[in-house]
Amino acid sequence: MDATTLSSLYDPIAPALAEVRRTVAGLWTDVLQLVNITDDQNGEAAAGGKLLRPALCLLTAGALGERNLVRMSRLAAAYEAIHIASLAHDDVVDHASLRRGRSALNVLWDDHAAVLGGDYLVARSFEMLLEYSCPELLNAALQAMRRMAEGELRFFGKDDVTADENDCIALADAKTASLFAAVCAGPALLLSPDKADALYQFGIDLGIAFQLIDDLLDITQPSSVLGKPGCGDVAEGKHTLPIVLLRRRMNDEERLRLKALTGGELGESDREWIMERSGQLGISGTVQERAEAYIASAIGHLDVLSMSACRQSLEGLARFVLVRIA
Ligand code: IPE
Ligand code: IPE
Ligand code: MG
Ligand code: MG
Ligand code: MG
Repeated sequence: MDATTLSSLYDPIAPALAEVRRTVAGLWTDVLQLVNITDDQNGEAAAGGKLLRPALCLLTAGALGERNLVRMSRLAAAYEAIHIASLAHDDVVDHASLRRGRSALNVLWDDHAAVLGGDYLVARSFEMLLEYSCPELLNAALQAMRRMAEGELRFFGKDDVTADENDCIALADAKTASLFAAVCAGPALLLSPDKADALYQFGIDLGIAFQLIDDLLDITQPSSVLGKPGCGDVAEGKHTLPIVLLRRRMNDEERLRLKALTGGELGESDREWIMERSGQLGISGTVQERAEAYIASAIGHLDVLSMSACRQSLEGLARFVLVRIA
């Protein structure tokens, strides 16, 4: 599966997703005006990305029987704005220089403006959520944002000795799956509250698998494919599942070499070494297996939905998470 597959999975929601793109572009224009930037490169920064979260929102709404999907486009755009804000903040936290194939905002502007730009987008997204006059919807988005911050904060006390596999799953759950869950439960809170719990769980399982694969791609794909720094997690000394497994399966000498890579830019030979050792030590297989189990569980939660093109796309998106390369 590739980007073509993604666009065919988005077929049932194409007009509403086009509206989401326009809304997000409008928000982005407002941000650029605030920072007095008119340059084209900055102008496109919000246009990239796979739009997974708005697509999940619209597909869930469609699968719950909503006929007027354009009515849901501002809800879907609000989730994408929260996501873009989290990326702006994440790149500051991770000292990342590249995002969506372009310079990250902290590089184009500076940390200060990137953090404030993220805060501004969060405020704009909550204004859009308010339009739906549903306190449960606001609460779900707030809980996601709370968990995203809690997940990252909890990890500040961890080091390469204390972080284990369970911590990696807990972090994926808090920082990534929480937003996927709010996005999938959101339309149900408006349209079919009895299905909100199952769709929330769908989002949690999907989001954990998504982050595990993201962590794997970090060590298996180059920046040119990812559109973000390859081996960035190694350079940052992160404790992702593939890195925790690598540490455990390496010998003492290799562990020291891996640790020494923290804090600098990785050279080509270091990247090749990590890729080669990951292959030899079966890291991809183990991470892929864990992710597959979460996706199987995610798909099971879709049983609350009756059959439709939107439900099929939700299932297709869940499978896409396992085969994506960027
Ligand atoms: C990146 O998410 C952040 C993670 C949760 C790993 P995406 O891979 O969905 O980012 P875009 O929106 O496509 O750029
Ligand atoms: C996901 O973690 C971050 C968010 C949920 C915003 P990462 O730090 O792995 O995301 P990328 O790899 O930079 O996109
Ligand atoms: Mg990051
Ligand atoms: Mg991060
Ligand atoms: Mg990552």
